[in-house]
Amino acid sequence: MHLLIPAAGMGKRMGSNRNKLLLTLLGKPLLTWTLNSAEAAAEITWIGIIGQPADQSDIEKIIAQAAMTKPVKFIIGGTTRQESVYNGLQALPPEAKKVLIHDGARCLATPQLLDRCATILRDCPGLIAAVPVKDTIKIVNEKNIVHDTPDRSRLWAAQTPQGFTVQLLKECHEKGRKLGWEVTDDAALFERCQLPVTIVPGEETNLKVTTPIDLAIAEFILRQQSE
Ligand code: CTP
Ligand code: MG
Repeated sequence: MHLLIPAAGMGKRMGSNRNKLLLTLLGKPLLTWTLNSAEAAAEITWIGIIGQPADQSDIEKIIAQAAMTKPVKFIIGGTTRQESVYNGLQALPPEAKKVLIHDGARCLATPQLLDRCATILRDCPGLIAAVPVKDTIKIVNEKNIVHDTPDRSRLWAAQTPQGFTVQLLKECHEKGRKLGWEVTDDAALFERCQLPVTIVPGEETNLKVTTPIDLAIAEFILRQQSE
């Protein structure tokens, strides 16, 4: 199965002066850990990494050092994640019927999770890895006054991998561009087109490295995973 890795962000919330995926965790670039999982996932046969032109040479170095046995293609990203994935979809080879999309920033996802999603995706049009939320979530109004408390038992925190039928996701992206939809994940486009998205149990450790504290937590988890 084909895998797209969005890696074209700026890492603003990390507060570093470069793309957070180029920062190191236990001595290796963050993106290397994501690539290692993709390499180890038996179901993944082709990988597209979506990056900014400014990061291209660093990312190509990371790809070379990861000693990948699978084909890896560098794809130029856009100004939003949505645009980056759009570019990734255009760059897929024509034989790709299904695609998994997995954020470069989720470098702790195990190969088993990638494989599980790839297998389930054979029999459904769309899926996301997700975990039940632990916190009670509040919906607030413009004045920061609580408006509602949704029933927690029905709330799931979306992760990646997310996977889709390529043709359907392309149509959703085209519709989203035409109607000006701005979304933070691909499942949201799918939902707005009334297409079903299946939940696959994710991993509690599959965090999205976002702020500086996540670097310390990620190193802790990586050490445990390598024991
Ligand atoms: N991403 C991308 N293209 C963009 C923006 C984000 O490919 N224009 C990727 C990021 O590289 C990351 C994933 O989408 O792997 C999830 O995005 P996020 O965690 O928000 O990363 P950044 O956008 O880099 O971080 P921030 O929002 O703090 O700037
Ligand atoms: Mg972002």
